[in-house]
Amino acid sequence: MKLRDVANIKNIESNNDSSESYKYISELQKDDEIRSIYKVTSKKLQSAKDGKKFLLLTLSDKTGTIRAVDWHNAETNDNNVSVGDVVKVQGKVVVFENRLQLNLSKDSILKVLSELEYDHERFVETTKRDVEKMYQELVEIIRNMENRFLRILLEKIFIHDKKFVEIFLKAPAALTVHHAYKGGLLEHTLDVVESCSKIAQKYSEIVDSELLIAGALLHDIGKAYEYDITPSGIVVTDKGELLGHIAIGVDMVEKIAKEIKDFPQELLVEIKHMILSHHGEFEWGSPVLPKTPEALVLHMLDNLDAKLSQFLKLTEKGEPGTWSEYDKKLGRRIMIRGEKK
Ligand SMILES: [Fe+2]
Ligand SMILES: [Fe+2]
Repeated sequence: MKLRDVANIKNIESNNDSSESYKYISELQKDDEIRSIYKVTSKKLQSAKDGKKFLLLTLSDKTGTIRAVDWHNAETNDNNVSVGDVVKVQGKVVVFENRLQLNLSKDSILKVLSELEYDHERFVETTKRDVEKMYQELVEIIRNMENRFLRILLEKIFIHDKKFVEIFLKAPAALTVHHAYKGGLLEHTLDVVESCSKIAQKYSEIVDSELLIAGALLHDIGKAYEYDITPSGIVVTDKGELLGHIAIGVDMVEKIAKEIKDFPQELLVEIKHMILSHHGEFEWGSPVLPKTPEALVLHMLDNLDAKLSQFLKLTEKGEPGTWSEYDKKLGRRIMIRGEKK
């Protein structure tokens, strides 16, 4: 980066036209008059009853999203801005239909910023856990596997394939829903592995513990190539869009297994089955339903981990003693325990 570019970032980031720094969406409060930097995640030019045009936007950063309405420069801003752009915006925070909304000011012509003009940290959240420690735990689990074929397969992917490991450690587990941050995939994978190993102990008469753990480690590896982290946040790659992580993961496992001499075909089929069926239902993207005990447990615990992480996110965002906001993905509000303030 050239010196002039660094100066540019400083100039914009210091927000020298007001003493306050740019507010994150989670910090916004009713009646705030703000100037800040957000990403446009949706926009729609609409007409009011009297024919007046207004622009409806969804703005986001790593802390959340807010609806924004532009009554003043709707057509100009609609032409200036595309979904995915990072913009500098000015407006007042109001409450509309029980939710915060940003009304753009009269003179807020949206300014699209280049990657050099804003701090990328505004848009990419990172796991709060220690990535190196989590990775060591994962390596330990693999090294301790008694089934030689499973161990070699997992070592080849998670230890020897340095390129994959580098991407895997940074990958998010989703675009928005759960673990949507740098390191989220590792965190999610490890949590699913841990709960699978507990359930395998409980149901040892029917569940093969090592097979289940291998499935848990591998179930989302395709996500490393499904998402990409850009300066303005997480995006789906072309490969991810066209193939999805289930197909990518199956492909990877198949390729690596071929390199292992005498890898048992029945074992490979069972591993592929766990990856293919882990979404549990046709309408959730799995081409087959879980048909082995390990596949069923993996699906249930994967789903549980994803759902609980959404519960946690809503709880952190909400007020103790109240109900959370309605969550579209969960299809419900959830109760947030505690004393009302
Ligand atoms: Fe998945
Ligand atoms: Fe998963």
